[in-house]
Amino acid sequence: MRVIASTDEARRFSDEARRAGKIVGFVPTMGFLHEGHLSLVRASRRECGTTIVSIFVNPAQFAPDEDFDDYPRNFERDAKLLEAEGVDAIFAPKREEFYAEGFQTYVTVEDITRPLEGASRPTHFRGVTTVVAMLFNATRPDRAYFGGKDAQQAATISRMAADLKTGVDIVVMPIVRESDGLAMSSRNTYLSPEERNDALAISRALREAKAEIEAGERDAGNILARMRETIERSERANVDYVAAVERETFESVDTFRAGGRYYLLVACRVGKTRLIDNEPISIPG
Ligand code: PAF
Repeated sequence: MRVIASTDEARRFSDEARRAGKIVGFVPTMGFLHEGHLSLVRASRRECGTTIVSIFVNPAQFAPDEDFDDYPRNFERDAKLLEAEGVDAIFAPKREEFYAEGFQTYVTVEDITRPLEGASRPTHFRGVTTVVAMLFNATRPDRAYFGGKDAQQAATISRMAADLKTGVDIVVMPIVRESDGLAMSSRNTYLSPEERNDALAISRALREAKAEIEAGERDAGNILARMRETIERSERANVDYVAAVERETFESVDTFRAGGRYYLLVACRVGKTRLIDNEPISIPG
């Protein structure tokens, strides 16, 4: 497994693989890998001849009051995990090289990024789309794999990849959960045992909401009110938002219609930790 720090070398590595007839798969991460990341790596390994994983904690997607400095990092552990998965290369650029002095160019996706995460974290998506575009330029992948937990991020990146004619196929993989339902996240390490227990209300609320919709409930307002109630029964959980949106556009909906494809979404602070989770919903036509 190669460990690459320079953008030029990443390009050469990818170009050589493609010249050898391989499909290049790419998994962008901020490191501190868990089973959710490894599910993306495994999908890339199944579908592509070469897999590159980036590890880069991207300063541009954190607001000044967010957890950039505290974000968990452990490169050696990550490298061991990736080697064991048979990854071909890690791309781990240095911050000073990647965001060189004088950097002032940003990629902005408009409508999808306005509500929800975009409203709570106004500079977040611009940081994500910018770094993902830069990572695509460095690793020149044919396919890139993203986790379904960050549903608005995945929809935003799919839009950007199509709009900018990147030629990269965006693959969004299902959320990986702990056995008790908690969606896997590098930020789960911040939770105390009591907070972790309270955080289970998030996935429980989503599960119950899905069951109610499957049983025939079509009023999004009723569903969201019950989700909020379920979560706020937990002492340490404070809901930032609960939402029901169209799957592709992220426009909010009042009613679930036959044939519709939606997300139920939650963002919630448990203690000081902000967690997000979602459940894709498909209504039979
Ligand atoms: O989902 C993440 O870990 C990050 O937002 C990403 C896509 C690696 C960009 O920094």
